[in-house]
Amino acid sequence: MKLFLDTANLQEIQQAAAWGVIDGVTTNPTLVAKEGGDFPSRLAQICELVKGPVSAEVLATDTKGMIAEAKELAAISPQIVIKIPMTADGLQAVAALKEEGIRCNVTLIFSFNQALLAAKAGAAYISPFLGRLDDLGHDGVQLVQDICHVFQHYNFTTKIIAASIRHPLHVLQVAQAGAHIATLPFSVLEKMFKHPLTDQGLERFLADWQKMK
Ligand code: G3P
Repeated sequence: MKLFLDTANLQEIQQAAAWGVIDGVTTNPTLVAKEGGDFPSRLAQICELVKGPVSAEVLATDTKGMIAEAKELAAISPQIVIKIPMTADGLQAVAALKEEGIRCNVTLIFSFNQALLAAKAGAAYISPFLGRLDDLGHDGVQLVQDICHVFQHYNFTTKIIAASIRHPLHVLQVAQAGAHIATLPFSVLEKMFKHPLTDQGLERFLADWQKMK
C-alpha cells in the first residue's frame, strides 16, 4: 500500500520525505490557496521533494478549459497527475487526456457509480472522499470497500486513492479494504508514529541503562 501526503506545504512534504514514508503528494485548490504563491512553481518544488506522483487540480469546469489547463500543468513535470472533478465534462476531459498520455486523478468521488464511470473514462486514479461522507453520517469506509471489491473483480487498472482521511483508524480501515493508496494530512501521518507504550518502553530502557551505569 502506498501513502501520499495531502498537502501543498513544502516543509511538511520535506519532513515526510525525509522520514522515508511517502510515495507521492496530492493537492487541491483549498490546500494550495492556504499556502499562497505561484501554483506552477510550487508544483515544481513539490516534484523535487518527492519521487512519486503529484496531483494538481484544474480550475476550469468545461472540458476544453480543463484540457488546456491540464496540458500546462503536465508540462511542469512527468510526475504531475491531473486532478479532474467528477462531472460529465470532467470525464470527457479524462478520456481525451488519456489519449495524449496524460494521467488523471478523478476527484470528489462520493458514490460507487461515480467511481465506476471515472474508471471507464480511463482515470489512472480515483479519489473517494471518505471523511466528508462520514461527516454526513454516511459510511466512507464502506464506499472504499465497495469500490475495491468490484475493481479487483474486474481487474480494473485504475488505482484507488482513499482521500479525506481524518484519523489513523481510517488508514487501517482503507488498507484492510484494499485501497492502493491513502492520502493523508500531515497531522494524521504524525499521529501514526505514536503509541504510549513505545514512549514508556523507551523511557524505561533508558532509565534502566542509566541505573547500570
Ligand atoms: O485532497 C482531497 C481530500 O483529501 C480533502 O480532504 O479533509 O478536505 O475532506 P478534506
